[in-house]
Amino acid sequence: MDSRCAAASIPGISIGPPTRKWGRLYNPHMLTHGFLGYDASFMLDFVVTALAAIVPILLYSLYAVKVQRRYLLHRNLQIILGITLLVAVTAFEVDMQFIHGGWRNIVNKNPESPRLTGAEFEHVSRVLRVHLIFAITTPLLWGTTLILALREFARTPVPGKHSQLHKTLGWLSVIDIVGTSVTGLWFYYVAFVA
Ligand code: HEM
Repeated sequence: MDSRCAAASIPGISIGPPTRKWGRLYNPHMLTHGFLGYDASFMLDFVVTALAAIVPILLYSLYAVKVQRRYLLHRNLQIILGITLLVAVTAFEVDMQFIHGGWRNIVNKNPESPRLTGAEFEHVSRVLRVHLIFAITTPLLWGTTLILALREFARTPVPGKHSQLHKTLGWLSVIDIVGTSVTGLWFYYVAFVA
């Protein structure tokens, strides 16, 4: 008896063609059209969701450090946010540049009947340029703030000599990431929703 038959004979386990349930969860259409229902792409929808989720977590982290003085919680939340940002941006860039060959191919999937042309396309390009100012500076500023904080504060962080510089870098990073998030959602809206 081959292993397929052996597994198939175990009660409760069935091996065979994908069931309809899995067919609905894994759907190749989702990779090219996304899951938010606006015909973008999976990675674009993923990054937009991540950007929207980052802001409330960031606000909570600031509340934890400023009001509750829970420095360790603040440190851990900032590390998690940093890793999320890095993974989302890397995966997004790989998908956008190497899989789709640039954002124009996602917006205008069908060259026969492009979704955006002329003045509309120009407007979306301008929104994207504004977004890129924030999106490119954020990882650099965020990385600098994070690495310096990890190097200069103690393992169990408390205010100290690095506080002043950290607060300046920290608030600039906060403004930058909120700018990235807001302009990213704005781009998504004008390119796919409006
Ligand atoms: C990119 C990541 C980070 C950002 C954006 C950030 C942001 C901030 C901001 C805006 C403040 C000032 C709050 C206030 O005005 O009172 C702050 C305070 C603080 N952060 Fe961060 N932080 C980050 C990472 C870290 C890490 C990794 C650590 C620890 C290793 C840390 C430790 C602290 C401490 C100890 C304070 C209190 C400073 C004081 O009140 O003197 N932060 N952070």
